This record gives sequence, structure tokens and C-alpha cells, in this order.
Amino acid sequence: MADNILGFDTVAIDEENRALVIIDQTKLPGRVEFLSLTKQEDIHRAIRSLQVRGAPAIGVAAAAGVYLAALGTDCADYDTFLAKFRESKEYLAASRPTAVNLFWALDRMERVVTDNSGADVAEIKRLLRLEALAIRGADRAVCRAIGEYALSLIRDGDGILTHCNAGQLAAVRYGTALAPIYIGLERGLRFRVYADETRPLLQGARLTCFELAALGVETTLICDGMASSVMQKGLVDAVFVGCDRVAANGDVCNKIGTSGAAIIARHYGVPFYVCAPTSTIDMSSGSGADIPIEERPPDEVTEMWYRERMAPEGIGVYNPAFDVTENGLVTAVITERGIARPPYSDTLRRIFSDSGAPVFL
Ligand code: MRU
Repeated sequence: MADNILGFDTVAIDEENRALVIIDQTKLPGRVEFLSLTKQEDIHRAIRSLQVRGAPAIGVAAAAGVYLAALGTDCADYDTFLAKFRESKEYLAASRPTAVNLFWALDRMERVVTDNSGADVAEIKRLLRLEALAIRGADRAVCRAIGEYALSLIRDGDGILTHCNAGQLAAVRYGTALAPIYIGLERGLRFRVYADETRPLLQGARLTCFELAALGVETTLICDGMASSVMQKGLVDAVFVGCDRVAANGDVCNKIGTSGAAIIARHYGVPFYVCAPTSTIDMSSGSGADIPIEERPPDEVTEMWYRERMAPEGIGVYNPAFDVTENGLVTAVITERGIARPPYSDTLRRIFSDSGAPVFL
């Protein structure tokens, strides 16, 4: 194992064994275990069960998954190949509904097949391999660029609050919301991080704290309900979160509890920054109301992580995995192409329409 989390990739393709290689995030922080997945059912289950998770990482895993399925397809006829490709694409797309990166990556892969309908199947498989590697390869550069922009918004010694895990484990390298902390660290800057534990699946406690502690970042774990207290005490200079889907109007869908952190930040005058690759921006969702919110099983709330059940049998449980933070609470959306500020319906559109890298500082 590498010395620390930045020493290995969260998602990789093992070409020799035709496998998707991931760190099993359900085992962290207790054990660092790698999984080598060759079957579509196992890749689907890995995404569904959060063995691989975080919007960018899910996209990379799905691209690799659909490529591996195509590689194993034994037919020379284009129409049969396309039908089988679409079958595995739809199967992987059904693993989780909210993070748009999943659909973005699968659509990119499908375009390779449909744009090359005149090519033979062996050539299409070769192009699919290149596309899966390109999606994975770009993630590192994209996260680094987000980190550079985000770093320009904070100063040495600042207190940062973050929710869920938008670090390296949510991408291939660096992550999004934690990228400025890692890049700052390379330059000798030190930040104090407050990590929301992030009920019910504890991505903050298990994953964010694991990553940051491995690098020696000063990290304080807080229960989600303590965010108001630390902000009231003036300990937080900025909130940085990742996200699963940004709507065209700048509404932001991220891990359940994010909107609460945004409301508290607004109350105490703390800037609330959302770090999002452009692959997370969904211009076809007009507002947060258009984003499908995943609901997960009740036992994640009542039993998982507890030595014994912590709620009466039969109690009703509501377990939405994501919430929407209204655009008015978002100070800026930090992308690899620059920093978008309100009005988002204008600035997000410009991020996609301009040819150069627009920066709205
Ligand atoms: O359910 P999860 O763990 O996949 O949710 C992940 C998040 O909400 C992250 O904040 C988000 O994907 C940001 S990814 C850099």
C-alpha cells in the first residue's frame, strides 16, 4: 500500500485481467482493501453499495464498467454489438440516480459507439478503451484545476468546514472540495478542517477524516448538528463541499445535510463554496426540483454502524441520500474552467459556451 491516500488511484482499470480496480470504501477507515471487479453485476453492486462512491469516481467506474462489458462482447455485427452495449449501459445507469457524472460518462461512451457505426467492432472496442482511459485521465487534471481556483479563495491558517467526502476517494486523485487543501499542503500552507461526520453513512467521519489524517492535516470531526456551533464561534472561514449535480440555475444537489450547512453558513456570514467539475453540471436540469433524489434503505439510519438497533422496530424512516441547496445560498461554484458566481443561469451557461477558460472572480 502507498504511504498515504494520495499515493494511489481510487479507481483504476487493470487491462491484463480485464477488471475495474477500486478501494472498497465500505471498509474504510478500518481496512484498506482493493477489489478487482470483472462482472457487470459486481460493478453495479459496487456503485449501488458505495464501495465506489462520489460523483466523479462513479463516472469513471461506470465508463470502465461499460468498456469492460463491451470488451467481453463476442459478436462481429454492429447492430448486435450496439444492442448489447446499450443493455450494459442501462444496467449500470440504474445503479444510482443522482450523481449526473454517471450518466455523463455513460453517454460519452455511447457516443463513441454511435459515432463509429461504420467501423468494425474490434475498432470500436479500441476506441472505447481510449475513451474510458481519457475520462479517467482527465479527472486528475480537472480536480487539480478546481483545487487551484479554490485555493485562491482562502488563506494560510483558515478554518474550512466540509460535508461528506469530496476528497480523493470521491474522484481519482485530489478530489474536488479537498483539492485546495492538498495543493496548499504541497506549498506549505496549513488549514484547519472541520469535517461533518455526515449521517447516516458517515462519509465525513470514515473517509474525509481518513484522507486528511493520512496527510497530517489538522482535522476535527464534528457531528452534523455541531456545524452551527463551530461557525458561531468564528472557527470557520469558508465551507467547501463537492456535489452530485448542479442545475442550470445554480441549485446544488449534494449529500443530505449540505443545505443545512449552507443555511448556517449564510447566517454567520461564512462563504459557501461548491466545487464541481463541469461533468457535474447538468444544464438539462433547470432547477434542483428536476434532480432525482436517491432514497436509501431505512436500516442505514436505524442499524448500520450501531452495535445494536437504535430505533424501535417498525418506526417510519425517511432516508433521502441528497438534498438541494438553493442557488441563493451558494457563494460560488468552482469548476476546472473557472469560478462561477451569481447569477448562475448566466455564468454557468458561459462556462459551457466560451472556448477559453472563463474565470469569474
Ligand atoms: O452517496 P455518496 O457518498 O456517493 O455521496 C457523495 C457526495 O455527496 C459527495 O459530496 C459528492 O459526490 C462530491 S464528489 C467530489
